[in-house]
Amino acid sequence: MEACMTRPEPAIHPASTPGLEDVVAADTILSMVGGTAGRLIIRGHDLSTLAGWRFEELLALLWRDFLPGNPEADEIARRLGAARLHTFETLSPALLAATDDLSPVEALRLLLASLPDSETSDHAIKAVAATGVFAAAIHRRRKGEELRAPDPAASHAADMLAMIHGAPVAQEKADALDAYLVTVADHGLNASTFAARVIASTRAGLFSSVTGALCALKGPLHGGAPGPVLDMLDSIGEHGNVSEWIAAELERGERLMGFGHRIYRVRDPRADALKRALGKLGDPTGRLAFAEEVEREALGQLAKRHPTRPLQTNVEFFTALILEAVGFDRDSFTNVFAAGRMAGWTAHVREQEQADRLIRPKSRYMGPMPKNLAI
Ligand code: ACO
Repeated sequence: MEACMTRPEPAIHPASTPGLEDVVAADTILSMVGGTAGRLIIRGHDLSTLAGWRFEELLALLWRDFLPGNPEADEIARRLGAARLHTFETLSPALLAATDDLSPVEALRLLLASLPDSETSDHAIKAVAATGVFAAAIHRRRKGEELRAPDPAASHAADMLAMIHGAPVAQEKADALDAYLVTVADHGLNASTFAARVIASTRAGLFSSVTGALCALKGPLHGGAPGPVLDMLDSIGEHGNVSEWIAAELERGERLMGFGHRIYRVRDPRADALKRALGKLGDPTGRLAFAEEVEREALGQLAKRHPTRPLQTNVEFFTALILEAVGFDRDSFTNVFAAGRMAGWTAHVREQEQADRLIRPKSRYMGPMPKNLAI
């Protein structure tokens, strides 16, 4: 075996951007995250102007020029409904049963990975439809409840809730879920979208790309945070404990879920969009008022501890509250996030495929070199 030298003094300083912060790794027409102004622009629309949009309308916007024939929202709704039904009718009971020992997001990973990559022009529609159907099926199976077939005539949000609850739900809940799906549909080059684009750049296909994206979304620093937000509220328990609980958590070096963001240095605009949608559902249990108290205290203590690093409320804080209010279990929250973000993932995959350039950055080798080898 060739002898290796002991580790040399690093000739170059370590990589200064291990998290690739500020590195521009793709050109996109899909969305822009303005970190200092607290803006999210989706294909020319500021997020604040998208309030009241149906998810299907946002899909039509994101998919324009990426889906043959550029279907409008009503046509997308029709094809999405048909795709939900098809997914449901072809979902293998044995495959669903194979998810029993997995967490809901691992179950979704298994089901998404089972879809073939062979090319059809409707794959983006199928991916969005399948994520909603799978998320609902996983939820009901874990509760030991019979699956409910989709209603192709319903909106995607209303149908997801009907499949979850086993019966249609009040319109205001469907509106709240619609607002959520629209709000989280796309968000620049976040970790999961970047993962999707890297995989798409190898020409692996749409389902491989979005399955990889889901794997990235699963982590608690990305899409896995909203369940723990509710754990935090439960653990705090009551009004008198808020300040002490947060101080103790920060003293232990723990991160408060639902706060901080890689790009936003001001409040995440999605937090406000979700808070507004949540407000329309009322606050019958006082959960929202309590959460606002926790938010105020958390922001105050984070500001004291990190005076030069603004740490603000992110999307996950109000995601937790809105998804709880419309009836999802907290361990399903990441799957519902995936149901919304699938809109952006599929559009980014198609955009990357059009660019057709393999993403292959370099790494900097910091290990030992063989003796007497000049490079
Ligand atoms: N609670 C307490 N301290 C925090 C938090 C937090 N939520 N977020 C960051 N910090 C602290 C860090 O400990 C670090 O402190 P230090 O300089 O003393 O070591 C400092 O703030 C800077 O943190 P970074 O790790 O550099 O921030 P980064 O940009 O890498 O992290 C992230 C962003 C991962 C979102 C982080 O804020 C976090 O872990 N938040 C909690 C998890 C969460 O809410 N995730 C959802 C994000 S939104 C989304 O992905 C959809």
